[in-house]
Amino acid sequence: MEISLLYVSRSTLRLPDEAGAVDAIVAASQSRNPQTGVTGALVFTEKQFAQYLEGPEESVRAVMDSIRCDPRHSDIQMIFDKPLHGRRFPTWAMAYAGPSTFVAGHVLTLAEAATPSRQSKAAERLISLMRQFVEAQLIEQRRKDSGAA
Ligand SMILES: Cc1cc2nc3c(=O)[nH]c(=O)nc-3n(C[C@H](O)[C@H](O)[C@H](O)COP(=O)(O)O)c2cc1C
Repeated sequence: MEISLLYVSRSTLRLPDEAGAVDAIVAASQSRNPQTGVTGALVFTEKQFAQYLEGPEESVRAVMDSIRCDPRHSDIQMIFDKPLHGRRFPTWAMAYAGPSTFVAGHVLTLAEAATPSRQSKAAERLISLMRQFVEAQLIEQRRKDSGAA
């Protein structure tokens, strides 16, 4: 079975000194996740992380176990953890979106949503936003590649 999950956590990174840690997390994720069929997206807002993971249940749970123990963040708040019907980031080992004040507002809304129905709407909105970021990056990359050719 495939599952997807979304969580929000509080960053423990001291900025700007430890800002490079985010690049290290993205690089490690991009090299490890493909080995177990995990894809997803990560947002960093300078105060919080939001991460969406999808893939085979065992793989997602295994990576989430090590993420839980990672001292670079704390207060992990699981927003959802559910069976997956169709990937949202099929070609992204770990897409990275952020930091941006626009996304930061959405992450805060999600973390502070008062009711399950508001939370699930906020979760859906954040995932669409992550997708838009990823697609925008892809378009920008293609533009650069064609400019360089
Ligand atoms: C916010 C956050 C997201 C992370 N996402 C991933 C991920 O998607 N894949 C991954 O392999 N490691 C990820 N990591 C790193 C893991 O927590 C961990 O450092 C890495 O998997 C090595 O774990 P190990 O020492 O247990 O082998 C993330 C860390 C943080 C703080």
